[in-house]
Parts: sequence; structure tokens; C-alpha cells
Amino acid sequence: MSLITELEELIPNLEAELVRAFSLQELEQARVACLGRKGSLARIMARLPELAPAERPAVGQKANEVKTLLTELMERRKAALEALAEAERLSGFDASLPGRVPWQGSRHPTTLVIEEICNIFQSLGYEVVSGPEVEADYYNFEALNMPPEHPARDMQDTLYITERVLMRTHTSPVQVRAMKSRKPPLAVIVPGKVYRRDSDLTHTPMFHQIEGLLVGKEVSLAQLRGTLTIFLREVFGSETRVRFRPSFFPFTEPSAEADISCGICGGKGHTGKDACRVCKGTGWVEILGCGMVDPAVFEAVGYDPEEVTGFAFGLGVERVAMLKYGIGDLRMFFENDVRFLAQF
Ligand code: DAH
Repeated sequence: MSLITELEELIPNLEAELVRAFSLQELEQARVACLGRKGSLARIMARLPELAPAERPAVGQKANEVKTLLTELMERRKAALEALAEAERLSGFDASLPGRVPWQGSRHPTTLVIEEICNIFQSLGYEVVSGPEVEADYYNFEALNMPPEHPARDMQDTLYITERVLMRTHTSPVQVRAMKSRKPPLAVIVPGKVYRRDSDLTHTPMFHQIEGLLVGKEVSLAQLRGTLTIFLREVFGSETRVRFRPSFFPFTEPSAEADISCGICGGKGHTGKDACRVCKGTGWVEILGCGMVDPAVFEAVGYDPEEVTGFAFGLGVERVAMLKYGIGDLRMFFENDVRFLAQF
């Protein structure tokens, strides 16, 4: 290595030393090691006589340049340490303490369930979309076949902002928005927060839902059953039995509710004193609402119900998480007790 290169090497070496110097004393040690009488610069310069006389001036000039730079680096670090010492003195902050180990977080069970369900549907070709939480009456009710004064509105206690604007009571309005902004065929999965004027042991004013919608030519009830059965077995285990019961929703016809075999008692459904508390002894727990998209909804979004059919479904995320992880109390989702959260 030429003496010039050795001189140039001193700069990064000192920079590295300085980063580690946290006191004026450490700084002085670094200075002596580099610029002192027996320091690395002096040691290099002591070899000057080894060179041919014609080469010496260039090395001498380089040595001066490097020395100026090294001195500047020292000065800058010194100023920074003095400023730090002053700040420490003023605030009682100790910069020499080691850094804290970052907090080991874990994802919230609600988030885990949303991610799992969206992943399943994405693998089936569905697109994840979202919509506003403050929603127009039109999207939340009217376009979903619930005109003003329709008794089905009473199924959902609503938090109104103004007479025609409200906190959405379900994720179903995003069905309408998705259809209006796309052409069939389409498949969307919609996670999000929903709000109701409800608050007791089993209801919170805000909770999460996931909505699904598939629209195309000749989408059938059989496909609805097949898709939801695959999905529910994926989430709750391949042994899970799934059944569909007739039900009513204004935006689907026919409508159904899907139940899964109770994972707590294994679907045995004891009655009497030792009846399973989760399924109340029936062996089944209700898990989601679904159905074939009502022609009135297609008309509201400008689709021709003679041309397309579709299915939709909606489910409560916290409910899925409670059944999946065996959580007994809804309030735990919102208390943010780390002893609860760290278990996931
Ligand atoms: N929106 C309904 C609710 O919150 C759930 C629902 C039922 C969604 C049937 C759907 C459906 O898409 O087809 O109670």
C-alpha cells in the first residue's frame, strides 16, 4: 500500500473511532491515537525517508490535507458532544444508556381474522375493497332494497349524523359502491368497521364485518353453498359441518343463514344441566348471513337482473374470532389488555 493510500485510510478510521466516542475523554484518546506524537499519522510520516526524494513533496502535501480534515472531524465531534452534554445537563437525559429492546408486539385477533379471511378469498380470485364508514342513507339502506319507512330498517339500530347520513350499520353498502364502479363479472371481499346504537354484554357500538359479493352470468345458489362451505372449513377446520337455514334479508332473495357445528362441544349439543354454553345445547352456531342478490339491488346499480345473477354474504369478525379462539367476552377485543393481546 502506498503511503498516500495509507494516509487516506486514516479518514474513515478516525470517523469510525469518533462515532464510538461519547465523552471528551474518549475523544482525546482518539485524537492521541491518530494525531498524537506517536499516533498513526506520525508513524506514517516517519517512513517518509524511505521514499525517493522526488516522491516526498506529494506525500507531504497529502499528509497536510489529511491532517486538516482529521482536525476538522475532531472539532465537529467535540462540538456535538458538548451540545449533547449540555442537553443532558438540562434534561437529565443519559445518552450513554443502552437502547431499549423494541416492544415485542403481536397482531390483534380482529386483524388476524380479517387477514385470514381476506387471504382465503383472494386466493379464490376476489378483490379486497373498502368503503366509507360515514355513509349516505341511500347506500346503507335504500339501494339495498330498504326504502324509507321499510320495517327491515328496524333490524339495525342506527347512529345518524344527519337525517340522511349515518354511521354505516353494515358493510353491505360497499356492495352497491363496488357494483356501481365496476362492470360484471366481479368478485369483492370487503372488511371494515360498522356501527350500531347497541351496547351490552354481547354488543359494542363499533364492531367489524366482512362482506362478500360475486356477480356474473349464471352464478348459482349451489356456488354460494360450495364457496361458503370451503371458506368455513378453511377457517374452522376441515371437520366442521356447515348447514344453511332459510332466512330473510331485504337485499337477497332467497336468503339464508349459515351455521357451523359447534367447535366447543364438537357438535354434540348436550341439553339440560351440562348444556354447551356456546351453542346452547343445539350443536350448531350461527355464523353468517347470505343469499342470492335481489333483482331490486341490481336495478339500483344499473345492472340487468335478466343478464346477471350473484350471491352475497356478511359476517361479524369478532364473532368469528370468539369461536375460533374460544374467547368468552366481547369486551376483551376493545380493552387492549396486553395479557390478552400477547396470546395471539
Ligand atoms: N348486512 C347484514 C347484517 O349486517 C349481513 C348480511 C346478510 C350481508 C346477508 C349480506 C347478506 O351480504 O347477503 O346483518
